[in-house]
Amino acid sequence: STLVVSASNARQISNTFHGVFVEEINHAGAGGLWAELVSNRGFEAGGQDNTSNIYPWSVIGNESSISVSIDRTSCFERNKAALHMEVYCGGQKPCPYGGVGISNPGYWGMNIEQGKRYKVVYHVRSERKFDFQLSFTGIDIIKVASYRRHVFGDRKWKRVETIVEAQATNHKSSLQITTIREGSYLLDQVSVMPLDTYMGHGFRKDLFQMVADLKPKFLRFPGGCYVEGDYLKNQFQWKDTVGSWEDRPGHYDIWNYWSDDGFGFLEYLQVEDLGAMPIWVFNAGISLSDAVNLSALSTYVQDALDGIEFASGSHTSAWGSLRAAMGHPEPFDLRYVAVGNENCGSVNYQENYLKFYEAIRSAYPDIQIISNCDASSGPLNHPADLFDFHTYTSSDGMFSLSTKFDHTSRSGPKAFVSEYAVWRKDAANGSLLAAVAEAAFIIGLEKNSDIVQMVSYAPLFLNIDDRRWIPDAIVFDSYQLYGTPSYWVQKFFIESSGATFLDSTLTTTSSNKLIASAIIWQNSAEKKNYLRIKVVNFGTTTESLNIYINGLNSDVHQYGSTKTVLTSTNVMDENSFLEPKKVVPQTSSLEKDDKEMNVILSPYSVTSLDLLI
Ligand code: AHR
Repeated sequence: STLVVSASNARQISNTFHGVFVEEINHAGAGGLWAELVSNRGFEAGGQDNTSNIYPWSVIGNESSISVSIDRTSCFERNKAALHMEVYCGGQKPCPYGGVGISNPGYWGMNIEQGKRYKVVYHVRSERKFDFQLSFTGIDIIKVASYRRHVFGDRKWKRVETIVEAQATNHKSSLQITTIREGSYLLDQVSVMPLDTYMGHGFRKDLFQMVADLKPKFLRFPGGCYVEGDYLKNQFQWKDTVGSWEDRPGHYDIWNYWSDDGFGFLEYLQVEDLGAMPIWVFNAGISLSDAVNLSALSTYVQDALDGIEFASGSHTSAWGSLRAAMGHPEPFDLRYVAVGNENCGSVNYQENYLKFYEAIRSAYPDIQIISNCDASSGPLNHPADLFDFHTYTSSDGMFSLSTKFDHTSRSGPKAFVSEYAVWRKDAANGSLLAAVAEAAFIIGLEKNSDIVQMVSYAPLFLNIDDRRWIPDAIVFDSYQLYGTPSYWVQKFFIESSGATFLDSTLTTTSSNKLIASAIIWQNSAEKKNYLRIKVVNFGTTTESLNIYINGLNSDVHQYGSTKTVLTSTNVMDENSFLEPKKVVPQTSSLEKDDKEMNVILSPYSVTSLDLLI
């Protein structure tokens, strides 16, 4: 087979070509990227999977020493549930056995690490003088700082804040709050946050770093179906997720779990830490099971306008001032919004969409508006700057979708491929087979990058203790993580945003399972330019490829150049906590300085040559 790369027809790929999509699914945020360690910190959790608002808290002590119930007189107006704790101690003073109280396991265990500091906050109301003990199971802590003494009893709500330092490591620890004094206590809004988070903004460092390593140019959030809700009452309502964390009511989400909404609208926008542009998806007045009447849609439209003002308005504007009060006076660089998620098939969508479109276009003419309707094969019947395209399919299906946008009209809206993945049998938990087919698909998108403006894989995260949607790109538990082959495939494309695309022609008589593309990208740290040629072999046989390069002003040097290959012995090979690097790209240097370039392509492989020019 031969590949002829020609520099004569160069064009620029969009600066936002490669990005990520973060949805609250699989405990990606709560119990994942958002570093809060307490689960159900406000005792508000409910919904069909939980037996009480106390879950997953448990009681320390027996029936004769303590009883707990839910009280609805909390000092927090938007979340009235608090824990009522009646401590009897079986008539003994002080309580026996070192005290009684409550315990929280976090999200399948709290990762408490030796030498690390944690901010513990709780709110309490007590009739009498009392003293609470904080501890993590299996770990001694030292208190480093403490705001307010732990002794009061004037029946007023008090906020207690303590910094503790762990004296040992336990990856699956629980928080315990105990007392040795009899009394009647109300407890609410309990939080444990590690002080060591990404840029101090509350994100779990190792997970955030995995995203940062993908160099995303945009981040689409917060869903997905999470935006819609199974019913409208369970949609993500951004106004309920801003302000102080104690005042956020939280909500039961479509992926069957309670979200405290610590990971709220502002926290999503904070993705500016990645150098990524936020893409906000808001509810279009449609959930999976119900929809708002057109007559009541104006509230939704106003919410969308207010959300844009919160994100990008001046710090003196009504909603921008709340953002400023939350510590971010500078506007976020919000340039894209999407009207709904996968709603095009809904009878209300077109009408609703136009209402949002008109209001946003008139108030914010520079904001790019993304429609849910697919314009890859024909024109839309409404105006849009971009259209959203999702696909979950087999590996063969994904490979053949590499030509999906070849015939899309170049005069219509640009494509935003915001969700793609091989799934089910071919992917299992994240196989090489899936990843290779996805690489072929993205090469096809790169070839069509005059019309495809943005691309992101979905879902990004899986907390292994809540396997709602498989496969995913990054798998983690309370303390470990790994990338699936689909994660590593994305790394082949992180230099594509803003790169120069070159035409290339592949001629083959031996296989119709090859696809290739070529870009020129600049390594700004090294101040060097590279010609990157990516080739996917989605076939079962080894292929030999001769490469010819025409029309480049400078010579191609194999010295200083590298070859990176992703493959494995078995197509269904996966990574795991035990073997996190079983299927990862391997990079080697090209030693020779031949004019002739030949590369051997293993079956089911992705190969990238970075040639110094
Ligand atoms: O990525 C998982 C889900 O797939 C998203 O929530 C939804 O948009 C799609 O159906």
